[in-house]
Amino acid sequence: MDRFEPNLRIPGPTALPPTVREAGARQMINHRGPEFAAMLGRILEGMKPYFGTTSDVAMISSAGSGGLEAAIVNTLSPGDRVLGVSIGSFGDRFAKIATVYGADVTRLDAEWGYAAAPDEVRERLRSMPEVKAVLLTHNETSTGVMNPIADLAAAVREERPDALILVDSVSGLGAVPFHMDDWGVDLVVTGSQKAWMAAPGLAMIAASARGWAAMETARMPRFYLDLRAHRDAATNGQTPFTPAIAVVYQVDEGLRLMAAEGADHIFARHEACAAAARAGLVALGFELFADQRYASRTVTAANVPDDLDWKAFNAEIKSRGVVLAGGQGKLTGKIFRLGHLGSVTLEEILGALSTLEVAALTLGRPVEPGAAVGAAQRAALATAGIAALSVTGAGA
Ligand SMILES: Cc1ncc(COP(=O)(O)O)c(C=O)c1O
Repeated sequence: MDRFEPNLRIPGPTALPPTVREAGARQMINHRGPEFAAMLGRILEGMKPYFGTTSDVAMISSAGSGGLEAAIVNTLSPGDRVLGVSIGSFGDRFAKIATVYGADVTRLDAEWGYAAAPDEVRERLRSMPEVKAVLLTHNETSTGVMNPIADLAAAVREERPDALILVDSVSGLGAVPFHMDDWGVDLVVTGSQKAWMAAPGLAMIAASARGWAAMETARMPRFYLDLRAHRDAATNGQTPFTPAIAVVYQVDEGLRLMAAEGADHIFARHEACAAAARAGLVALGFELFADQRYASRTVTAANVPDDLDWKAFNAEIKSRGVVLAGGQGKLTGKIFRLGHLGSVTLEEILGALSTLEVAALTLGRPVEPGAAVGAAQRAALATAGIAALSVTGAGA
């Protein structure tokens, strides 16, 4: 194992491209100097098209959860009525943060594995005339489901035009198209360790004009996470506190690679990898966990079959250099997850599937050698076309 790098197929942190790694090893600089200011400017502007906004983006040094906390404490006041729409463990977390800070949270839970239904959101909001905000998860990493944010936001807008729509897209943004301005979304959170191909440590948050305005009157306590301070400092090319400079270097380099590849190619590559992962796992005999109408393009979850010794299977896979993620919360031991986001290539997915095949054969399971890899290749070609199968896109 020491002789080669693992194929890290967890849904973040994602493996870093070589130049991103090198960027993280660079010498420190003065974070009050022009070099940092230029970098911060590139990042905040460079992220806007991925959020689908022309509004201001803020960057804070924290895990993605810090970004979720910032979303809550900056826009809400204690006692505010909030609809927390949860389809899994991260939706639960978002709602919990709001509760901890004193919001009056009503939960709308979908069965894990399913997306939220716009009609149910609409119906629930009918009985919440004073609702201040609706919390949505874009990509529920714990279940492998991608919510239809455009439809959900439209449902909210129809029923409660003034409600704030706050979205956790920690594990979705950058990998799939997102149009927060067009969809009427007020705040979106993402994290450096997912599609951005960087180490953990930075959360990026975009807010609409309505979102920024809400921060002026919100009364939940905040200091470090006050997004207005981050936005205002950025106009001078600075952050209010010492930033995670090594990760800033990496996100800057990641965005450079993404610009060279082109957003369309990035999205097509994720679509191809997701299709390959799903088809390959099915060909291996696994049942996919998520409602496939809303299957995530960044992570695929599959059920652990009753007759499979998961520990032995996973140990075999690991010994061959592939790292998968297990289930979270109530899905621990019941599902496993295969991540396909960030710098992922189709070759890495095919390699992982090939390893799963070999591990299954080693354990004596009835698997046809090559079947998963073949199914995955066909699915990738059918979904995204041959253009998406080049590794680095137009700027290569
Ligand atoms: C959808 C989603 N939300 C929030 C988080 C939390 O991010 P972090 O672990 O960086 O706090 C994650 C992390 O996996 C996530 O996938």
